[in-house]
Amino acid sequence: MTMLILILVCLFMPEMAAAQSLAPAGWDVGLKLNEPADLNPDPRIVEINLTAKLADVEVAPGKLVHAWTYDGGLPGPLIKARVGDRLIVHFKNELKEPTTVHWHGVRVPIEMDGVPDISQPEVKQGESFTYDFVVRDAGLYWYHPHVMSAAQVGFGLYGALLVEDPDDGVGVADQVTIVLSDIGFDAKGQLEPADSGGSAGMVFGREGDYVLVNGRTRPTLRARPGAPQRWRIVNAAKSRFFYLDLEGQAFTVIGVDGGLQERPVTNDILLVTPGERVDVIVAPKGKAGTPLTLRAMLYNRGYGSVQYRSVEDVLFIEFTAQPPVTAAPVRVSRALPLPAVEGATRVDVVLTLPPMENGKSEFRVNGVPFWKAKPFQAKLGETQLWIVRNDSDWDHPFHLHGYFFQIIDDKDQPVRPLALKDTVNVPMKTTVRLLVTFDERPGEWMFHCHILDHADGGLMGTVMVGDGKASGHVHTKKP
Ligand code: C2O
Ligand code: CU
Repeated sequence: MTMLILILVCLFMPEMAAAQSLAPAGWDVGLKLNEPADLNPDPRIVEINLTAKLADVEVAPGKLVHAWTYDGGLPGPLIKARVGDRLIVHFKNELKEPTTVHWHGVRVPIEMDGVPDISQPEVKQGESFTYDFVVRDAGLYWYHPHVMSAAQVGFGLYGALLVEDPDDGVGVADQVTIVLSDIGFDAKGQLEPADSGGSAGMVFGREGDYVLVNGRTRPTLRARPGAPQRWRIVNAAKSRFFYLDLEGQAFTVIGVDGGLQERPVTNDILLVTPGERVDVIVAPKGKAGTPLTLRAMLYNRGYGSVQYRSVEDVLFIEFTAQPPVTAAPVRVSRALPLPAVEGATRVDVVLTLPPMENGKSEFRVNGVPFWKAKPFQAKLGETQLWIVRNDSDWDHPFHLHGYFFQIIDDKDQPVRPLALKDTVNVPMKTTVRLLVTFDERPGEWMFHCHILDHADGGLMGTVMVGDGKASGHVHTKKP
């Protein structure tokens, strides 16, 4: 009887049939993230409490770390909303240090952007702040502090925000959110100091010894052979790049930072730099008893980052003994308007690392570190082409707050498939062009390298959008 109903459903509702779950029961328990209670009965409002506090977290069997957490977990809870929902977050700081919450990638009003001195006051110990905004774009986003970011993110403060569009047409029912990160701590569970290695540590970008997937080391997912799974991945590490290989099996990328892209692209290796997100379909093939390993391969993001690192096992996939599924290729598409480069204001952004002075290194944007920089300027509605030239010997994942951009090639043509990004890797000694339209939201917005040690070392700036009463000032504090 069930079989008959299934066949009928398949015949008459092909879309729905495509979205049937194929994964074995409990396939994703090894990766389950906590979800906060929604306190608001209105179906279009997600209202939650979120508390920053210290907690002991077990990241590997018997390995406890005294971490900085949201709600006592590492990572913080997975916040879920539907596109167009209003999200209200009652944030409380129970840490000794001041903090804030920045909603990475979300087109929030400036007051909700979480940057102290620029968009909101710091939230001090015992204080609260209510974040309240509409999530306008479907996609995977994430949240983290913007006070001493390298330290606070490295200590464990980050979580994912998944904004779903029930009508996105992807048709893969088995979906999991994967928060990649790392953490460093000693045998007593004490966190590695945020300034370890001094200036050299800053320049290298500090990586923790424990590679984490949803706060665990090397967890296991279960799969029916060949059945498609949708992985929503965010790299929340403060410095580590994830160059992912699934023993050569394909990743079909259907979306990036700002949601679905123009069309899917299939690749057998996947680079996810700090701050970036990818929406991928995998259909792992294999047999019961022979697990598949997702590994982070070596990637040269600068001097020594290959010599001093090793390949890491990230997660395992265990197969059921069920007969394999032959999955149809993913065909989801998104009509994104072709961006017009013509008429855009050109803005040069040059990233450098001059030789050490007095034993200290300092990254610079257009010749100055953040603490000597004046804001860039943009008019409301203006389209700008940022020509980001990396003259240093290190890669820099370049992140702009509050706005999506599109990647433009050196012939001023948009890179296809079209996609919306808020973070893009600018490899060493190369130039990346970004086209951004500053829409109706005025304010002073940050941009910075998402290797947070680099940001801390000077690689940050702001752009003043709109009339900008504060324009002309020079920054002092490091957000
Ligand atoms: Cu992930 Cu300034 O942000
Ligand atoms: Cu950098």
